[in-house]
Amino acid sequence: MRELRIVGLLSRVEGVAALDPLIDRIVGSVNAVVRPRAVRDVLHGVPIGHPLHPAVVLLPLGSWISASLLDLVPGTERSARLLVAAGLVGTLPASLTGFTDWAELHEQQKRVGLLHSAANVAASGLYLASFLRRTPGTGRGKLLALLGLAVVSGSAFVGGHLSFRQASGANHTEHVPHLFPEGWQRLVELDALVVDQPTHVEVSGQPLLVVRSGDGVEVLSDVCSHLSGPLSEGRLVGTGADACIECPWHESRFLLATGEVVHGPATAPQPRFDTRVVDGLVEVCLPGAG
Ligand code: FES
Repeated sequence: MRELRIVGLLSRVEGVAALDPLIDRIVGSVNAVVRPRAVRDVLHGVPIGHPLHPAVVLLPLGSWISASLLDLVPGTERSARLLVAAGLVGTLPASLTGFTDWAELHEQQKRVGLLHSAANVAASGLYLASFLRRTPGTGRGKLLALLGLAVVSGSAFVGGHLSFRQASGANHTEHVPHLFPEGWQRLVELDALVVDQPTHVEVSGQPLLVVRSGDGVEVLSDVCSHLSGPLSEGRLVGTGADACIECPWHESRFLLATGEVVHGPATAPQPRFDTRVVDGLVEVCLPGAG
């Protein structure tokens, strides 16, 4: 079966650099509005381990789909209007989470994300008009809701492209345990590592971040779980058990000792490797690999 033409059109949007000046202005506004890092982390979904946006969009989508179903049932006008209003309220958390994630994406993803946002704004406008026009005896409010549902469905299609074709929000290290060999693997001579200097080493084609501390060696996947940034080109932050590596691309921070996310936009932890030193040679083992 061949792909629909609309998918090709959407892929072309990824390359429309003319959108970038507008995108830069909106990103600046998002960063000015959502400033505290703890708030950004919650909006990204750091506490729940994956993006929050897909969960909160259920409120507007569920409410609006239900409203259109009730519009088919006589005597449920008040309930349908209430659902349209609930959906409009739900656009606030949906927008906050969506824009916060979007501001930390690659250019190609931001261009498609801009289309997704524009469609959502159009759909919200139609639902607001539907809410205001729901006067007894006319069908205009119901018609506007149907138009809004069509637009928001198109937006969901664009969101699917952004999430799955362009992998925004996906864990970019999920493949690591499937590709890394089972058991202990030779890494590097201990003496070749400089203390507190992030170092890139490859084992079986897999890039690893290696950091020698005063009393040990910490090893994480070098591919940032957010969007594949090279962690070994980032900077070390903190000391001891609190030492973190900060990604050079969007400043996600990961605890070296465990790989867990300390700050987003990443939401998935880094694969963390066990280490040991045998005759001056550092070896690594990824639990569950192979
Ligand atoms: S690639 Fe975005 S924070 Fe690392």
